[in-house]
Amino acid sequence: MPQSSTIILGIESSCDDTAAAIIKDGKILANIIANQDIHKAYGGVVPELASRAHQQNIVPVVEAAIKKAGITKEEIRAVAFTNGPGLLGSLIVGSSFSKAFAMGLKIPIIEVNHMHGHVLAHFITEADETANHPKFPFLCLTVSGGHTQIVKITDYFDMEVIGETIDDAAGEAFDKVSKMLQLPYPGGPILDKNAQQGNAVFDFPHPKVEGLNYSFSGLKTSILYFLKKELEKNPLFIEENMNDICASVQKTIVDILLINLKKAIHQTGIKEIAIAGGVSANSELRKRFLELEKEGCKTYIPKFEYCTDNAAMIAITGYYKFLKQDFADQELVPNARMKI
Ligand code: KG4
Ligand code: ZN
Repeated sequence: MPQSSTIILGIESSCDDTAAAIIKDGKILANIIANQDIHKAYGGVVPELASRAHQQNIVPVVEAAIKKAGITKEEIRAVAFTNGPGLLGSLIVGSSFSKAFAMGLKIPIIEVNHMHGHVLAHFITEADETANHPKFPFLCLTVSGGHTQIVKITDYFDMEVIGETIDDAAGEAFDKVSKMLQLPYPGGPILDKNAQQGNAVFDFPHPKVEGLNYSFSGLKTSILYFLKKELEKNPLFIEENMNDICASVQKTIVDILLINLKKAIHQTGIKEIAIAGGVSANSELRKRFLELEKEGCKTYIPKFEYCTDNAAMIAITGYYKFLKQDFADQELVPNARMKI
């Protein structure tokens, strides 16, 4: 292989997915993820169990990515890894592994902000695909289990958060309401499936928040009281109305997300718009987001596997940092509260 090709190993371990990906000259060769089923029994991510599972998974996941990519580890030019935000114990596993792996191969390490990664997932190109990336400047609604942000992106590393949640994230709202409905964790995808069989017949209030910011904790409380009241009248209310409740909750969350996104489009005049993060896998959000094309917007949605946490988004961010020779020091420590 000519030395001119740039092969980057990406490592993601910020929450409960252990992931490794290989990108060559901006094109994806392998994208491997090990999910951690252990958290299902607890109804949420248990940080200590997550970091232990990362320790067990990281070596096999990296080996699988290298094998799938059909490369040798000596061909890797740099290791990019998530250094925050996330769970500290989980971040430590990925960053320590990356540093040791890079030191052994005498190659540089690249620090990646997980939220940058979600946004730059839009620049991942499949090996057999021609690029169709958003043009700068564009807006990205990044919606995950830990974040809900509207980001204005002027260049690969010039990003400004112009609106964000002041309390819970949208994914957290999906997961917490799912828990009230006794759906298994993580509830978002299951709530989505149920919603597709139901009708949004129940109304829930929208938050009153300044500017382009979001709030989801009031919605969660109002759903809790609504369910309590209905269950007093009919103890089988949830079972009998599961799909309609899910459709109503999903519609409310998506309505809230899109109202501010439309405001941001109007305020900035930017019509290139993208969504990213785990919640962008939501069927209703994807459908309604695409409808913005009718209002003159150009929309971008990452492939399903690049919406939820993955290492391809870390590798592509690492690739662009590699091009500017933006390397990190071995002394770098993880930052659980890293900002964009
Ligand atoms: O980006 P991500 O994989 O991890 C974080 O960085 O948080 O996002 C995970 C979140 C969870 O809250 C999960 O319930 C939600 O994304 N999610 C969904 C769907 N798929 C994943 N929420 C609603 N509908 C979905 N289809
Ligand atoms: Zn994420």
